[in-house]
Amino acid sequence: MQNPLDVAFAGAPLGLDPKMANRHGLIAGATGTGKTVTLRVMAEHFSALGVPVFLADIKGDLGGLSQPGISNPKIDERVKAFGLADFAFAGSPVCFWDVFGVKGHPVRTTLSEMGPLLLSRLLGLSDVQEGVLNVLFKYADDHGLLLLDLKDLRALAQFASDNAAQLRAEYGQVSSASIGAIQRELLGLENGGGGKLFGEPALKLADLLRTTPDGRGVINILSSDRLMQSPQTYATLLLWLLSELFEQLPEIGDPEKPKLVFFFDEAHLLFDELPKVIRGKVEQVVRLIRSKGVGVYFCTQSPLDIPEEILGQLGNRVQHALRAFTPRDQKAVRAAAETFRQKPGINLYETLLELQVGEAVVSFLDSTGSPVPAERAKIFPPRSSLAPLLDAERERLVKQSPLFGTYEQEIDRESAYERLQLGVRSGQPPAAAPPPLPETKLPAATRVAARADSAGSAMMKSFLRSAGTALGSAIVRGLMGSLKSNLRGRR
Ligand SMILES: Nc1ncnc2c1ncn2[C@@H]1O[C@H](COP(=O)(O)OP(=O)(O)OP(=O)(O)O)[C@@H](O)[C@H]1O
Ligand SMILES: [Mg+2]
Repeated sequence: MQNPLDVAFAGAPLGLDPKMANRHGLIAGATGTGKTVTLRVMAEHFSALGVPVFLADIKGDLGGLSQPGISNPKIDERVKAFGLADFAFAGSPVCFWDVFGVKGHPVRTTLSEMGPLLLSRLLGLSDVQEGVLNVLFKYADDHGLLLLDLKDLRALAQFASDNAAQLRAEYGQVSSASIGAIQRELLGLENGGGGKLFGEPALKLADLLRTTPDGRGVINILSSDRLMQSPQTYATLLLWLLSELFEQLPEIGDPEKPKLVFFFDEAHLLFDELPKVIRGKVEQVVRLIRSKGVGVYFCTQSPLDIPEEILGQLGNRVQHALRAFTPRDQKAVRAAAETFRQKPGINLYETLLELQVGEAVVSFLDSTGSPVPAERAKIFPPRSSLAPLLDAERERLVKQSPLFGTYEQEIDRESAYERLQLGVRSGQPPAAAPPPLPETKLPAATRVAARADSAGSAMMKSFLRSAGTALGSAIVRGLMGSLKSNLRGRR
């Protein structure tokens, strides 16, 4: 019987074992060598197997995943050569997402959920400035101020700047220069459109884990052409998603097939100048998320873009052609060749330089979890359309989506901004005790749309995390906060 995850052909089909698909993977290769088509073929296969997928559409051409492809000589040739008797063009169920809310459902999170560590990275803050940002978050926790959108944090930064002496007395060093720097970066982020990322309703992860009534996994496509203009925002968003998946999904050990497969395209952006603390955490998240049934597949030009500790965890590999123009390139190709389990008779270094478009050196994990010897293989042809999706068709699909209406309307509930405004008018600083949740004060329309948890869970998380920090030394939240506490339990 054919393996449902056959994605390459080397005399016989080479398939990923669904049980091993949560052991992560790598799709690498020079530009134009076929990485995105490989990603597409894998996404189609996972979807057909009932596994939801998340991927970023960097060039804006993955919308075609929703449409059946059409015959062309390159594809026909592969179908024939591989003996794919049951090959049929087909579209997959997709769900479109877009931080800017134009090409898909808006993707938002709250500042509270993101936490100061990732936010510092997003804003490009120095260590000292990050320390001050931590104080702002701590102040918000202590005074029951919800940090949802950028407006909240800007109001809080302004408040801190106006009351620097008081903050300094309570929390230690809070320099006006640092607050000023944070305010400038927040403004820059907002002006660059990054403000769209924060607010409510916040993304519910369950909405990324959907299957259709006929049992196919939904392929979530994050429109990233515009988002990529700010690589830092792109990388931070994906990192946040990964960490939320890690934090929220239950432990399931080694499942029959993954719960979700997460493709991280342009993965070098994730690791570019990544501060060491975060890098360590990313390594941990990648290592541990496997037992939550999430497979992470990094796509990048050179395997050297990926830190060694993470590369070592990527068991399923598709290495497309590499170029060796410079001595540095040659070193990279040699390193790439050496990461594979060698098959006698194949010179992988030479092979990597010779590979044609849509060809790759492939090695997947066998049922015992060891990598099979690397083979030179051709990637299966995609079943979906390689042509970009027409805007009108995309719009139709977005409106048809069962999620349409859930995120489209932004809501702005009482949070730090409103409470600080109130305080300014009454001359009172915010009270120390948290207010009751404003559920009953919400207008009816908002109440329906309010994804039950938003304010409540942001607040709750916020408190849990600040409670956690009382035990530890540094204030680290978001990605890192609860990961830290989970790890503490494990060691
Ligand atoms: N498995 C395949 N079957 C048929 N055609 C393929 C296959 N792989 C690649 N191609 C052809 O090669 C072209 C380039 O492939 P692709 O876009 O995947 O490259 P890439 O490595 O993602 O490039 P970039 O680095 O620029 O993103 C495709 O548009 C397609 O025409
Ligand atoms: Mg590509």
